[in-house]
Amino acid sequence: MCGIVAIVRSTTPEENGSESLPEVLISCLNKLEYRGYDSAGIALGRVEEGGASLVDSDTKRPTIERFRAAVSTRSLEELKKLLEPIAHTTHAPTGNYNRGIGHTRWATHGRPSERNAHPHQDCSGSIAVVHNGIIENWRELADELTATGHHLESETDSELIAHLIEEETSDVDLLEATRRATKRISGSFAIAIMDANSPNSLVVVRRLSPLVMGTGKGICMTASDIPALLGLADTYYVLEDDEIAEISPDSIRVFDLNGDTRELHPILVSWDISAAQKSGYDDFMGKELNEQPTAIKDTLLGRVATNGSLTMDETRIDDDALRDVDKVFVVGCGSSFHSGLIAKYALEHWARIPTEIDISSEFRYRDPILNSSSLVVGVSQSGETMDTLRAISLAKSSKTKVISISNVVDSSITRHTGGVIYTRAGPEVGVAATKTFSTQIIALQMLALYLAQLKGLLYPDEIKTILEQMRTLPDLMQIALDRSEKVLTVAEEIASKRDLFYIGRNTGYPVALEGALKMKEIAYLRAEAYPAGELKHGPIALIEPGTVVIAVATRGRLWEKMHANISEVKSRGATVVGIINDEDDQTASLVDYALFVPRTPPLLDAVVDIIPLQLLAYHMAKLKGFNVDRPRNLAKTVTVE
Ligand code: AGP
Repeated sequence: MCGIVAIVRSTTPEENGSESLPEVLISCLNKLEYRGYDSAGIALGRVEEGGASLVDSDTKRPTIERFRAAVSTRSLEELKKLLEPIAHTTHAPTGNYNRGIGHTRWATHGRPSERNAHPHQDCSGSIAVVHNGIIENWRELADELTATGHHLESETDSELIAHLIEEETSDVDLLEATRRATKRISGSFAIAIMDANSPNSLVVVRRLSPLVMGTGKGICMTASDIPALLGLADTYYVLEDDEIAEISPDSIRVFDLNGDTRELHPILVSWDISAAQKSGYDDFMGKELNEQPTAIKDTLLGRVATNGSLTMDETRIDDDALRDVDKVFVVGCGSSFHSGLIAKYALEHWARIPTEIDISSEFRYRDPILNSSSLVVGVSQSGETMDTLRAISLAKSSKTKVISISNVVDSSITRHTGGVIYTRAGPEVGVAATKTFSTQIIALQMLALYLAQLKGLLYPDEIKTILEQMRTLPDLMQIALDRSEKVLTVAEEIASKRDLFYIGRNTGYPVALEGALKMKEIAYLRAEAYPAGELKHGPIALIEPGTVVIAVATRGRLWEKMHANISEVKSRGATVVGIINDEDDQTASLVDYALFVPRTPPLLDAVVDIIPLQLLAYHMAKLKGFNVDRPRNLAKTVTVE
């Protein structure tokens, strides 16, 4: 998840204190470090005494100074080194730095490198932009811009914004040019723009991506998140969707995208820096599981054409070759394996392709039957899991088609596979996968739909309908997340239990597996998941009075058969917690504790149904006083066999 910051301040020494603007920008970027990044950059503007933009001695034009670095060490040291010669420039004879924009980049388009690092500039070098978000129509825009003679330097979607603004600046000011350019963009964005020809202000605009603003004495600033502003601002504001603002040291002017004036309302901020970096949550897992609706929106962005069909050329396999696929293997470990188990139902139902889901460490040693018509999909949020990388190597050596699904741009798995579908969940710090898991499910299901589209197995309007249904999922997930307090009360009731059983049918079975994995990982409880129909073939012998059984019993999942399974364990004295659809009184009457979730369209229920199970593990771990972000014996990335 990229972080942006933009500052414009007065050049009066009394108002600025002793820190130079480059130092202030670096310290703001440091405070956004928790968002994760692989490159960083800053652009600065100076003014002469009297407030005019400083003019470059060679070109005789107002200038912007830009510093960018790929930060392999995941610290800002490389960028700081570049800034060293000017780092302490507060009041120089060559003009004072009065405005700057900065960026930490978490790659989504184009690999991490200096060339792809922000700020990006237009052809003339007068405009510099930093951007957080995803431009959905970047392909069309890139074609239009290159056709009109723009030279695109990077592989990013963000650079287009600078050129779009450049196209508009000939007869209007930066604010108006940005407003016009924004109308051509679809997707999510928080953008800060600096113009060498506008010496005393910056422009910012947002849609869907976050942007907060702050003012202090002689300073106005904006950033992706509150931590960057702490210690510098004394009043805080939030810029709303589709609002654009011009900020200067002593004023903020806000408009909507039609040019009508809007009012800014101050917000109360009482967080310290550590709370602010977790958006007010106690821990990263809490923050990340609550980010799931936004993460799913980002996974869906940019992959649906205007006619409602899917575009997934990121697989880098041509359409005919994909049409030939007669068998899919999904390989992964832990939660990534579970996301594959869930997607199997979509791959077989929509695309009618026989699908096997394998644990990577088993796949590599079991002599799988692979040929050129097989498609192997390696799923790894980190992209560094050794067993999955080895499984991919095995597939490649068998001349099989191989793609990966990952959350980390340029990770090892993405370098080993031609095509990659990025999940775009943003960095996940908590060891227990939450948002990377749910976005993997959506990425795999989009792949299933894409294969069905290529094979002509679903009508265009059916695909359109399913994609529309997918777009309703973030709201349904939010409803489930908003019921966290109810999950806490259930966690309190069962907190003393040591053994938990999870049961489900159809996609409810891998959801049960994932729920049990979360409980083991962070609450250290013996939690075992079974297909509900398997209970009577052995595990039911373990059920005794007081045993807790968690039943994923939402509709559509062989619902009536689940009733029978619930009755089987109830009659042996189990305490049953049911994951049940809203208004399903019938199932609710069978269980001891009902955790309700909204009803979802067929095959799309996993990302909603998993939420109470993630929350249950989370609350159980917290009630026991465990560190949910760093559970014992576990690493976020498993780079050994
Ligand atoms: C999930 O909560 C775990 N931390 C773990 O099972 C994880 O999913 C597994 O190690 C795979 O990681 P990867 O997706 O980075 O390959």
